[in-house]
Amino acid sequence: MEKVDYDARLHTVYTAGRRMSPDALQRWMESFARHLPERRPLTWLDLGSGTGRMAPALASAFGGPVHGIEPSDKMRAQALAHAVHPAVDYAAGSAERIPLPDASCDAALLFFVWHHVSDRESAARELHRVVKPGGRLFVQTNFADRMPDVWWFRVVPEWREADLAQFRSREAVTSDFTGAGWTLLSRDEVTWPRSASLSEDFERLKLRAVSVFEHLSAEAAEAGFARIEAALPTLDDGPQYETNELLVFQR
Ligand SMILES: C[S@@+](CC[C@H](N)C(=O)[O-])C[C@H]1O[C@@H](n2cnc3c(N)ncnc32)[C@H](O)[C@@H]1O
Repeated sequence: MEKVDYDARLHTVYTAGRRMSPDALQRWMESFARHLPERRPLTWLDLGSGTGRMAPALASAFGGPVHGIEPSDKMRAQALAHAVHPAVDYAAGSAERIPLPDASCDAALLFFVWHHVSDRESAARELHRVVKPGGRLFVQTNFADRMPDVWWFRVVPEWREADLAQFRSREAVTSDFTGAGWTLLSRDEVTWPRSASLSEDFERLKLRAVSVFEHLSAEAAEAGFARIEAALPTLDDGPQYETNELLVFQR
């Protein structure tokens, strides 16, 4: 599958299209805290930090420093402009080459990143190098065999098919890390509030800030949006939640 280029278009829409509310961020921070020691501060690596959606919340919850490492210059520029926090720094790098010393982080996060990493073997080894012995790695991604139940996929099932082609099975992702010396500690399910209403969710979806749109033709995207417009009056406009899986590993 062709690599998604975040420097092309996604960086212009990501912050607005993928914004998380304080409640949603809080839900994720609690999910991480459950697997971490109580002492503070904790040093984090936010690998594939993008526009800095998670890094400031990690710093506020755990003290930091939080090192956001991101290969896309334009995603990183958004983070530097809009996701500033005194305990967060952003630098160029990638999962395959992490510009941090050995055993320098208490915890590392891969949030919706692993499906973009091509050299998974080097990346899992690099993560093992920079996380301290006994430290934690949190991997949040979709799995082809356990895709989240999202309303727009129910209306446009062919978008779901295109999306799941980006992802691998839960077993395959788990063995990427166990094969590099990580121990699987937990497989959690995290339910978080994605939007206050379905209409709000749809407005954000129209920004096409989700990478599946990079794998669809303009016609397939437009046809799907037309079907959603037609279905809207029949859909419940209530708050939208998403349930994702979180893999937790120990170094
Ligand atoms: C869906 S975005 C997630 C960004 C951020 N983690 C978040 O949740 O908002 C995926 C990010 O992974 C980055 N990425 C792609 N390939 C990568 C690699 N090999 N190593 C690290 N990050 C990568 C992309 O540039 C993009 O910013």
